[in-house]
Formats: sequence, structure tokens, C-alpha cells
Amino acid sequence: LGEAEVFDALGPGGFGPLVAAFYRRVRADDLLGPMYPPGEWAQAEWRLRAFLDQRFGGPMAYSERRGHPRLRMRHAPFAIGEPERDRWLALMAAAMEEVAVSDAVTEVVAPFFLMVAEGMRNR
Ligand code: HEM
Repeated sequence: LGEAEVFDALGPGGFGPLVAAFYRRVRADDLLGPMYPPGEWAQAEWRLRAFLDQRFGGPMAYSERRGHPRLRMRHAPFAIGEPERDRWLALMAAAMEEVAVSDAVTEVVAPFFLMVAEGMRNR
């Protein structure tokens, strides 16, 4: 599966259901939950979902609203070390299992999540 085909392969809603399952876990997580700005869960969920939709062949709504992603800069205010990186990846893996992401899609997005999560590490 090509990167630009992932959005369609996910079916209706693209990354919406996956990101919803992911954030349900993040909100309840003892390590990651407190890192997020309180009262902005809906916005945070929209940002990750729109970013992933756009990155993998869906609509360009993220850039229209947020400009260049500059993910490393935007994660700089948060202390991200190995524990935070590994928790993010574990919660995403659980969310992928919950919404039953296909093997074909997993093959494309899992290495991307690994690479970006390592890139966000600033501790
Ligand atoms: C934003 C934490 C990894 C994509 C954020 C925010 C936090 C955070 C606290 C701010 C919430 C908001 O206002 O949107 C973390 C931690 C990570 C991690 C602890 C562990 C390594 C990742 C990865 C991706 C990602 C792997 C992409 C695959 C994003 C995006 C935003 C964001 C797109 C919104 C950027 C914006 O437009 O402001 N993250 N993140 N993050 N994160 Fe992460």
C-alpha cells in the first residue's frame, strides 16, 4: 500500500476512529494525560487526526488551519523522553488493535509512528 492510499484504505472517516480511540486512552493515561492542555481535548484530537489524514492521502485541512506542521518545535514545550515516547506508541498500538487497522495499513503507518515518536524526544 502506498502512503497516499492509506486514507482511503482506512474507510469512512479516515484516521478519525483511530485517533478517537487513541485520545480516549491518552486522556485517561497517568503519564501522558497531564501533559495535554486542559480543556482542549477536542482541538488536540482534531489536530492529530487532520495531520494524519493529510500525511496519508486525505484532505489538506491540517495545513489550511495550522500551516507547516513543525512537529519538533510544537513538541518542544513538553518533556518527552523514552518513557513518554514508549507510552505514546503503546497507546497507539492498542488503539490500532481496537479499531482493527488492517495489516496493509499497519505496515505503512507503524514505522512512521516509530520514526516521528523518536524524533519528538527532547530528553
Ligand atoms: C501535539 C505529546 C508524539 C503528532 C501534541 C501535544 C502534546 C503531544 C502534549 C499538544 C496537544 C495539542 O495542543 O495539540 C506527544 C508525546 C509524544 C508525541 C508525549 C511522544 C513521543 C507524536 C507523534 C505524532 C504527533 C508520534 C505524529 C505521528 C502531533 C500533532 C500535534 C501534537 C500533529 C498537533 C500539532 C499542532 O498543530 O499544534 N503532542 N506527542 N505527536 N502531536 Fe504529539
